[in-house]
Amino acid sequence: MPLLIQHGRVITAADDFMADIYCQGNTISRIEPTIDPRTLPTPPEDLEIIDASGKYVFPGFIDPHVHIYLPFMGTYAVDDYESASRAALAGGTTTLIEMICPGPTDQPFDAFETWRSKAQDLAAVDYTFHMSVVRFERDVRDQFRTIVESGVPSFKVFLAYKGALDLSDEDLFAMMKMARDLGVIVTAHCENAEAIDALQKALLAAGKTGTEWHEPSRPPVVEAEGVHHLCTFAELTGAHVYTVHTSCDLAVREALAARHRGVNVWMEAVAPHLVLDATYAERPDFEGAKYVMSPPLRAKWNQDVLWNGLRSRAINTVGTDHAPFNYRGQKEMGRAAFTAIPNGIPTIQERVDLVYTHGVCEGRLGLMAMVDACSTQAARIFGMYPRKGTIRVGSDADLVVYDPEYRGTFSHAASFSKVDYNAYEGWEKKGRVGVVTVRGQVQIRDGEFVGTIGRGEFIPREPTH
Ligand code: URP
Ligand code: ZN
Ligand code: ZN
Repeated sequence: MPLLIQHGRVITAADDFMADIYCQGNTISRIEPTIDPRTLPTPPEDLEIIDASGKYVFPGFIDPHVHIYLPFMGTYAVDDYESASRAALAGGTTTLIEMICPGPTDQPFDAFETWRSKAQDLAAVDYTFHMSVVRFERDVRDQFRTIVESGVPSFKVFLAYKGALDLSDEDLFAMMKMARDLGVIVTAHCENAEAIDALQKALLAAGKTGTEWHEPSRPPVVEAEGVHHLCTFAELTGAHVYTVHTSCDLAVREALAARHRGVNVWMEAVAPHLVLDATYAERPDFEGAKYVMSPPLRAKWNQDVLWNGLRSRAINTVGTDHAPFNYRGQKEMGRAAFTAIPNGIPTIQERVDLVYTHGVCEGRLGLMAMVDACSTQAARIFGMYPRKGTIRVGSDADLVVYDPEYRGTFSHAASFSKVDYNAYEGWEKKGRVGVVTVRGQVQIRDGEFVGTIGRGEFIPREPTH
């Protein structure tokens, strides 16, 4: 049904203005100071009018880093596309970029098809993927070309998770040369796998098995070394790179130093690192397991570095690294040793509200920088702009009508993810999503899902690097 959103304060990465927005079909047709419904081609009975007085109208937010189908650390993440879509939409996210994470012996193209099939009928958000390269023998290389030609021009590489997802330097170098030739960006989990392995073994041998030892097993210097390693290979191959879940000052400095040398490196922060610190993972009675992710939560002062990086736009995006493992039965696998706790802090629904509450409301970030970091940059870096990531005539009508006056709390009861806890339980929430549209169809109204499962589409992308 055609939509007219009236009297909203429209915020993009570059503009802040009052306007009415008319959407027809999948896209935005008109943006004007005032649109008189009588001037529209749509008969009044077929037009939905949304009053956005006192509200912000944002472009649909894009989460550039989520895991939904994820076989990992001997178990599977608990969400599927239906639950993850509902959660994403309730938090204002209209496009997801999911990591395809095959096992070390899987055929890459089979994995691509498996991940696509998981999304196909259940997605209520639009989606695309980053293709993890966990093997790169000569005989599988052509499969990556085919995946790029199929509309997925971004790779993911893990420098961590020794023996499971990591890649040899020889293969990393060859993969980055191929990425450069194809114009594909390489996203990377930057932590030195060998250093972590040695530190973990030493800690466990000393009887240090609790959740409080997770951070000391992967200290900032281990992440900084990973960023340095990636950027060195980028410098040598000419590949464009993107550091996912950049968590700390030392890692940010390495990326900035590489940029200074001319390396094309983009940076992602994720919401958990912006608002949670290392003390959460130190909570007694195994409560800390809820806060085990990698790279780990850091000393609190690092949060200022991340927020400042976002404000100056040195850090490009905010994702979540949503990796939903239940506390009961899954996180609990690591009661005897922190190394067996499945990594992840589910945040797909909370991301935008956390950035608004702790960034915008606390004066750390302006509204336009928030939109840039949570939507526009992901669209630009990953080849979806201006179809996604902005509000302009011809763009997809992915829109978020946001109520800045709302006051409430984050809770497991209000979350749509299947995971059995909320890392932000009871925290104050300032502002919330009112209406969310995906290509012109209302999917969320007053925080409730009113849309269609299966509405979400795969968004094919072209190489832009
Ligand atoms: O803790 C994390 N980050 N879990 C998901 C896997 C990954 O490293 O992205
Ligand atoms: Zn990672
Ligand atoms: Zn991840």
